[in-house]
Amino acid sequence: MLEPTFLTETQFLNQGDLISEIEAGLLTSSASISPKFLYDNLGSHLFTAITLLPEYYPTKTENLIFKKNSFEISEALGLDKGLIDLGAGNCLKAESLFSSLKPSFYTAIDFSLDYLKEILPPLQNKYPHIPMFGIGMDFSRNLKLPAEISTLRNNIFYPGSSIGNFNIDDAEYLLKQVHFELNGGGLLIGVDLMKGDKILLNAYDDPLKLTAAFNLNILRVVNSLIHSNFNVADFNHHIKVNHSLQRVELYLEVLRDITVNWGDKTRKFKRGELIHTENSHKYTPESIKNLLVSSGFKSFTTWTDPNNYFLLIYAI
Ligand code: AVJ
Repeated sequence: MLEPTFLTETQFLNQGDLISEIEAGLLTSSASISPKFLYDNLGSHLFTAITLLPEYYPTKTENLIFKKNSFEISEALGLDKGLIDLGAGNCLKAESLFSSLKPSFYTAIDFSLDYLKEILPPLQNKYPHIPMFGIGMDFSRNLKLPAEISTLRNNIFYPGSSIGNFNIDDAEYLLKQVHFELNGGGLLIGVDLMKGDKILLNAYDDPLKLTAAFNLNILRVVNSLIHSNFNVADFNHHIKVNHSLQRVELYLEVLRDITVNWGDKTRKFKRGELIHTENSHKYTPESIKNLLVSSGFKSFTTWTDPNNYFLLIYAI
């Protein structure tokens, strides 16, 4: 059996940093937990389930764009480069490009190393001619690629509108680092476009409650990292469409007055209080191009779907 190479240095994912980040977020007056903590192994499975929901249009729409334009996309990206997948998850989006793109190697980077360890070995077996690397990394702070990968000619793949998790400054900070890592390659990025409330509400508060489960699971991830005693039953999934900031916001609403403890720390929550867990920023073709320009990118090829729900950009 051919095995992918896993790079697991703690510099890519430092437990101590993660714990301090969670504590700081919980101890402020409007509590928040970074969305990366949605993705333990179970959270990654729940997200994969969300992508199968008819209401969750981004994955389906982006897939359609990949399929309809596979020839043009591979022409733009060029053959014989490595493909670096940021937030690879189940790796299905990258896999859908393999046959036309023929990457010389494939690097899957994800916050959940456990999930990658489940997904990547069977993928490596299915594509034995593509050498594969798996890295568990928190690139929301810094994208530091190991030398054996960063010295190769790479295309960086950032699909699914994952960039939407970042506010504009943090997005620019990440995209500047992405630009720096392109060694004669480019960035293939997918972004969700702003649209009407009804579609957004259905996609982010689906009737099967998969998004609610996905959101609530963050408390179990936090419990296991900081040894806190959050009880999932004390919370509800709650979303807001914020038009002025062009984003969907996810929260956990506290259902009764509670006290949460961990180590020697205590945080009281009042009934009705909200813990912010995620922003999903939506773009316009102009706003994403402006962001890419201010991050150092100069030339763009774009593809969209017939409804203009989603935009795929190759930027160099
Ligand atoms: C993986 C960040 C792109 O914002 O649509 C899905 C995560 N959150 N449903 C998104 C998510 C709730 C997703 N991203």
